[in-house]
Amino acid sequence: MSEEFKEVPLKMVDPENNLPVNLYLLINDKFIHYLNSGDSVTSPKYDHFLNKNVKSVYVKDADYDMMMDWCLTVRHTFKEELIEEAGAASKEIIEDTLDMEQELYDVFSDQPLNIERIDKLQAYSNEFVEKVKEKDNFKKALSALLKRNETLAAHSSNTANLAIFIGMITGIGSKYALETLYMASLFHDFGKVKIPPHIIENPSDAHYESLMRAHPEGSVKIIAKSEGIPKQVLRMILEHHEQWDGAGYPNGTKGADLYEYTPILSMANELDNFLVKNRLKPDVKKWELAIKMLENGRGSKWNPMFFPRVPDALKKAFLPEEEA
Ligand SMILES: [Fe+2]
Repeated sequence: MSEEFKEVPLKMVDPENNLPVNLYLLINDKFIHYLNSGDSVTSPKYDHFLNKNVKSVYVKDADYDMMMDWCLTVRHTFKEELIEEAGAASKEIIEDTLDMEQELYDVFSDQPLNIERIDKLQAYSNEFVEKVKEKDNFKKALSALLKRNETLAAHSSNTANLAIFIGMITGIGSKYALETLYMASLFHDFGKVKIPPHIIENPSDAHYESLMRAHPEGSVKIIAKSEGIPKQVLRMILEHHEQWDGAGYPNGTKGADLYEYTPILSMANELDNFLVKNRLKPDVKKWELAIKMLENGRGSKWNPMFFPRVPDALKKAFLPEEEA
């Protein structure tokens, strides 16, 4: 990277605020002037960046301190405004939420994942799930799932919980991104409700394979009928059985053509399936084998960039210390 520019994590830059300095993007190894000081990153553009996996913007070296001061001031003002709007009673929740994002940023900017940090991430992910479940659309989704099929509802909700934890392990601090991951996880297998139970339970049935291969598209068809489902949610659902090496289904989509967070949903899905299949084994044994299963899929099933971080964090979270 050129000496002249410094990287600023996108998550530090609040949209819709006037920038103090010029902003640059790194495109094909070149720094491209993007916004002038006084301009702001609009919310749609910010969402677009998140969807396109843009993690950083850049400023001139000499502007870096001013930019970071601005980031912290905007954040502080934002917190004060939120508290004023929501009332002092919400102060703690607001501070916790902002702290969560900051903590995720800290964990991933200065590295090692120790037990304390994993505990904290687990607490944040549980808290996030508890809060998101209270939202109207998720409440409805969960009760619709429960009405149709209790086993599927349990699998979907376990997968969603694991996906959020893994998402946080990999450094997703954006509430928006986490919510889309949660939504995709809840609905990923919805297409299975159309497969007759006697076929689901019988892999040797003549129709088993073709119906199973069609279920991601089946899920997308059902979910796409609801209004306001973000495109990346449909993509994650469609791709949840695809593999990094292209050996998955329905389309054999591979590598960087997969949506960035698809492997997170896919890992969470396979982990829960594995844990359910091995439910009679003791917890520690179950997790030990499940994590091995995950490690075996490095680079074949899943993007190698998630390794060893994800299995290492799961070991710290679910195995006794001496084994982790
Ligand atoms: Fe599935």
